[in-house]
Amino acid sequence: MIATRLLNLLRPLALLACALPLIGLFWAGQHDQLGSNPVERLISETGEWSLRLLLATLAVTPLRKILGLPALARWRRMLGVWSLVYALLHFAAYAWLEMALDLGEILRDVMTRPVITVGLLALVFMLPLGATSFNQAIRHLGAAKWQRLHRLVYLVAILSVLHFFLKKAGKNDFAEVALYAALLLALLGWRLYDKWRKGDFKGFFSASTHSCGHQPQHPMGADIKPIVFHRKKP
Ligand code: HEM
Repeated sequence: MIATRLLNLLRPLALLACALPLIGLFWAGQHDQLGSNPVERLISETGEWSLRLLLATLAVTPLRKILGLPALARWRRMLGVWSLVYALLHFAAYAWLEMALDLGEILRDVMTRPVITVGLLALVFMLPLGATSFNQAIRHLGAAKWQRLHRLVYLVAILSVLHFFLKKAGKNDFAEVALYAALLLALLGWRLYDKWRKGDFKGFFSASTHSCGHQPQHPMGADIKPIVFHRKKP
């Protein structure tokens, strides 16, 4: 199929495109072009690129399913790994350039500044995802365990947007963070809708009866049929 071939052809280019912001920062650093506060610029750019690539990673599955392009699946890991690379550089810029690797000061920051606490949590949950992003790890863990572990990506994304929000809240500047939050909501909302459409929530809704005795309603208003157990024929 042409679309599959095109996507496979474009993948190495996308890989290079993900490196461009990093190359740009490196070039700007070499030529004294990082502005009046180079450390702040480095922290800000690496943080934003990590978040953008994280959301792009989450967008792969909806796009793959909606557009019917299975070849897109191979983009997911690449985008996720790049998001981790930028998050690690972001952390390194903070710990090394801003805090001069003073562990006591970093710890104090983690304990006293929610923006730092939440950022660090996001990174901590991101690490196992990066560490299990290669084929051998998938084989070793087994598909089901691997998939369960990789659901952490949703928590990482929520923490990352919260981290960004806490940073911007100090300056009462919510326009950009609102855009990221809306995108994240749409991506998570689509997944819930997709699960509901496939009937993955049926067991959850039909297994119980309310304490008042009535059968719970399906979220879309349809009546839930009681579970019927058939006796085995002798
Ligand atoms: C998944 C992990 C993370 C993501 C996606 C992320 C993302 C971001 C974003 C988008 C910003 C705002 C950039 C801007 O100014 O436009 C930011 C700011 C910042 N992040 Fe992170 N971050 C992460 C982890 C961390 C960690 C682990 C630390 C340090 C422990 C950290 C420290 C900071 C600092 C110091 C700022 C600037 C805050 C300020 O100026 O008040 N981040 N981050």
